[in-house]
Amino acid sequence: MTEESLIQNPSCTSSGLKRFPIKNQADWGEAIDVSAFYGRIDELAKLEQWILNDRCRLITILGMGGIGKTANAAKLAIQIQSQFEYVIWRSLRNAPSIDEILTQLLQFLGQRQNDLPKTVDEKILRLMETLRSHRCLIILDNGESILQSGDSKGNYREGYEEYGHLLRCIAEIPHQSCLLLTSSEKPKGLANKEGEHLPVRSIRLTGLQLAEGRKIFQLKGTFSGSKSEWESVIKHYAGNPLALKIVATGILEVFQGNISKFLKYRQLETLIFDDIQSILQRQFNRLTNEEQTLMYWLAINRESVVVEKLQEYFVNQKSQSELLEILVSLLERSPIEINDNCFTQQPFIIQYVTERFLKLYHQEITLEQAKILSSHKLLETTTKDPSRESQIRQILKQITDGIHIKATYQQNLAKNLNRNINKSQTMNKHLTNKQKHVLA
Ligand SMILES: Nc1ncnc2c1ncn2[C@@H]1O[C@H](COP(=O)(O)OP(=O)(O)OP(=O)(O)O)[C@@H](O)[C@H]1O
Ligand SMILES: [Mg+2]
Repeated sequence: MTEESLIQNPSCTSSGLKRFPIKNQADWGEAIDVSAFYGRIDELAKLEQWILNDRCRLITILGMGGIGKTANAAKLAIQIQSQFEYVIWRSLRNAPSIDEILTQLLQFLGQRQNDLPKTVDEKILRLMETLRSHRCLIILDNGESILQSGDSKGNYREGYEEYGHLLRCIAEIPHQSCLLLTSSEKPKGLANKEGEHLPVRSIRLTGLQLAEGRKIFQLKGTFSGSKSEWESVIKHYAGNPLALKIVATGILEVFQGNISKFLKYRQLETLIFDDIQSILQRQFNRLTNEEQTLMYWLAINRESVVVEKLQEYFVNQKSQSELLEILVSLLERSPIEINDNCFTQQPFIIQYVTERFLKLYHQEITLEQAKILSSHKLLETTTKDPSRESQIRQILKQITDGIHIKATYQQNLAKNLNRNINKSQTMNKHLTNKQKHVLA
């Protein structure tokens, strides 16, 4: 039995493997198969060092949707499982209550149903006793599911605040175990407990390297493309493994694996595959209104920009510190990047946010509203860079196309209405008085 195959069988324990201590037990819950896992050598080494050498008690793996948080946690847990008496994996995707999670943890850690404490506080205390007396590795996946959407502070969803108490106890009370949490957002209260020399730490995953990105494609089938075309497609999706898997599938289905054809098409049509759209939509919808506004700005702007320039763009003037606060929160949630003090977005995010912006723009024109119209001074984003100028021209063209479509639609609507009015007037003339009475 391979290590990876252990993970596919939730009921399987590692006690059958000779090199594990007899007491070692694992419940892999919904952990994913990582038999095809590439790269991440440095990240895995760092995490292993933190858990095994530095004895960290709480580690959060952060990163945007699809970047590989779950896969990394699974790969790591497999690598280090022999160092623990108990390994348990639970997903928080469906937002289980804290009571449910604690009950499952305690039962797995050997507590009998009849002996389980009644209250959440007592259950946390009992768990802490067990984490002190046994070396356990607990993995909680999809941590963002218990956090509030549209909140940049990592507050817990209503009814889930006691998870904060659990994390606090695991972080602050001495014990010999480790909780590995994956999340796209950092839960409130963790940042101030973290430190290079403290037992609470977090790691943020970024995209895969080119060679690893290519391997992800090759899992799907055979592709043709020059070195620069490969580079271009992997960079466009910023090495996000899930996005690469989706794009690879699309390129195979639509372009028979020809990357060159795909790149030409993408330039013309700004193609976004539905599945990528839904990952980004999920992430975008969790942002606050102000974060979303800033994301639109960065997408329109396209090139990286310093905070002072962004401040100029904002119609509802923000102080530099307010703006920085929003930018830091966006950096924390990964949809933007910083290089040499300039902020920008990854190309496929720019593509998604621009499309979303245009949809909103058209919607507002149709409904005669002016929220986004008035908040984004599109025409003032002047630039001397010809490529950016052409991009802005493209955005403007799409907007005017939308206005044209709307105007044509309204003209047609008016024509149809007139035709119907004329028809009913003609019909009316030919009706008998009795028929008119019945219709009235
Ligand atoms: N290093 C890697 N090598 C090969 N495949 C990978 C790697 N990292 C991630 N993947 C694959 O990419 C996909 C997305 O990864 P994963 O589910 O771990 O992302 P995630 O960050 O947990 O996403 P979400 O935020 O939606 O939970 C999965 O199919 C996973 O197997
Ligand atoms: Mg995940």
